[in-house]
Amino acid sequence: MTETPILEIRGLSKAFGPVKALSDVQFSLRRGEIHALCGENGAGKSTLMNMIAGVLQPDRGEILIDGTAVSIPSPAAAQRLGIALVHQEIALCQDATVAENIYMAAINARRAPLMNFNKLHADAQKVMDLLAPIPVRTKVADLSISNQQLVEIAKALTLDCKVLMLDEPTAALTEGEAQRLFGIVRGLRDRGISVVYISHRMAEIFSLCNRITVFRDGHYVATDPIAESSPDDVVRKMVGREITQLYPDKLAPLEPGRLLLSVEGLSDGDRFADVNLQLRAGEILGIGGLIGAGRSEIAQTICGLRPATSGTVALDGTVLRIRNYSDAVKAGLVYLSEDRKGSGVFLDMPIAANVSALDLGKLTGSLGLLDRKAEDRQATDLTKRLGVRMAGIDARVSTLSGGNQQKVAIARQLSIDPKVIIMDEPTRGIDVGAKVEIHRLLRQLAAKGVGIVVISSELPELIGLCDRVMVVREGRIAGELGADELGEEAIIMLASGVQNSSNQEKQAQNVA
Ligand SMILES: Nc1ncnc2c1ncn2[C@@H]1O[C@H](COP(=O)(O)OP(=O)(O)OP(=O)(O)O)[C@@H](O)[C@H]1O
Ligand SMILES: [Mg+2]
Repeated sequence: MTETPILEIRGLSKAFGPVKALSDVQFSLRRGEIHALCGENGAGKSTLMNMIAGVLQPDRGEILIDGTAVSIPSPAAAQRLGIALVHQEIALCQDATVAENIYMAAINARRAPLMNFNKLHADAQKVMDLLAPIPVRTKVADLSISNQQLVEIAKALTLDCKVLMLDEPTAALTEGEAQRLFGIVRGLRDRGISVVYISHRMAEIFSLCNRITVFRDGHYVATDPIAESSPDDVVRKMVGREITQLYPDKLAPLEPGRLLLSVEGLSDGDRFADVNLQLRAGEILGIGGLIGAGRSEIAQTICGLRPATSGTVALDGTVLRIRNYSDAVKAGLVYLSEDRKGSGVFLDMPIAANVSALDLGKLTGSLGLLDRKAEDRQATDLTKRLGVRMAGIDARVSTLSGGNQQKVAIARQLSIDPKVIIMDEPTRGIDVGAKVEIHRLLRQLAAKGVGIVVISSELPELIGLCDRVMVVREGRIAGELGADELGEEAIIMLASGVQNSSNQEKQAQNVA
């Protein structure tokens, strides 16, 4: 007996000019299931979601809801059909409050003066509290990326939908926030709502989802029950080959390289205090800690993006006088922002111009003219090394998939041959295969003597990639773990300040 799927896709194709984003794909969503959609960066996942949500129109093929072919000409039409999408990129109105964003559609539909704003705030707060205690009168611009992501999700929860599509909802969330979201998603499923779940994180897919569909290069590959699949199997289907080694070999601890970056007593008088940090040439230093612990603020202050109230930053033995970010770049110190959209890439500019945007001086000839050929060569070389999937280097960044935009942001950091690179969540939204490539590239750069700092909320990445990990808690360095001490539990304990019971027992034994 086969039940009619709540949502079915048949023979769907979509091209953007010469780029075939989807070719003749199928997909079928059952009532009350959580269905994972997987595929490499650029495989076509978001494109499919956007067509089901009425944002894009298919070139060919059918979308069936409850067995009936429908056309979905607009997002409003999708909403009427009971379809809600949480977009991969945060698309909130930054100047409006949380409550206004959550009920944006309702506010637009009715005339604002007729609305009961007290009730609106109370309702919005109720939904918001399901996810996190964010006051709904706060302006969205004042929220962290992770909280903005939670607002996006709350917004979708208020729509009375039967199909909920989540496009990488946990990319910017902490472990705790993600767990809370999973609880809610399971609750929705138990109430009969069908969920499409896009993620690059295998562990969460395997704990949350019932079935999984894999796309590769715009083509449908397979759909399997989770119980009959495995992460290795999924990766093989996604990438089309086996990935045997997830993290590059760490270099044997030969003699330590020369001291490259030395930060002493750095404070910003607000979010963090008395930070000391040393980085040697050839080293990959990890920075762990909870989101909000002050890791990004420390990195931004080191690089002149935020002011310091005290402390020094020395590069290669010279104390730097950094007044702004371009001073840092000139000295050879670059920062990759965790907020790709806010400060990472220029969406409306071509890929080539994005790659060279950090330092045009290098590409400017004696007449002060930009050497376009050199710019193109550089962009071609770096995008090839990072495996950016694109129509060409002249394409605008806005035409790239989320993960490929992130690779362009990384290419730009590499374009100036920096001495020290500080990367904030560098592999967020990057598929498993590309992640392996990026890690390998970072290791190669380190082997050439570049100093690398990686801020990451992903414990396996800190442990697998880094030589040493510093953990930040509430704006202070809580401790440091050397290569032989690296472990998930050790990092979590330093990050949270909580000792687990077995450790307390050990300590008690030591005291006795
Ligand atoms: N507006 C557009 N113009 C041109 N090409 C586009 C546009 N939107 C998407 N593409 C292309 O379509 C392909 C599929 O992109 P899509 O965003 O669906 O990938 P994805 O599977 O969601 O990847 P990711 O995991 O990186 O988010 C990519 O090659 C992308 O460059
Ligand atoms: Mg996507």
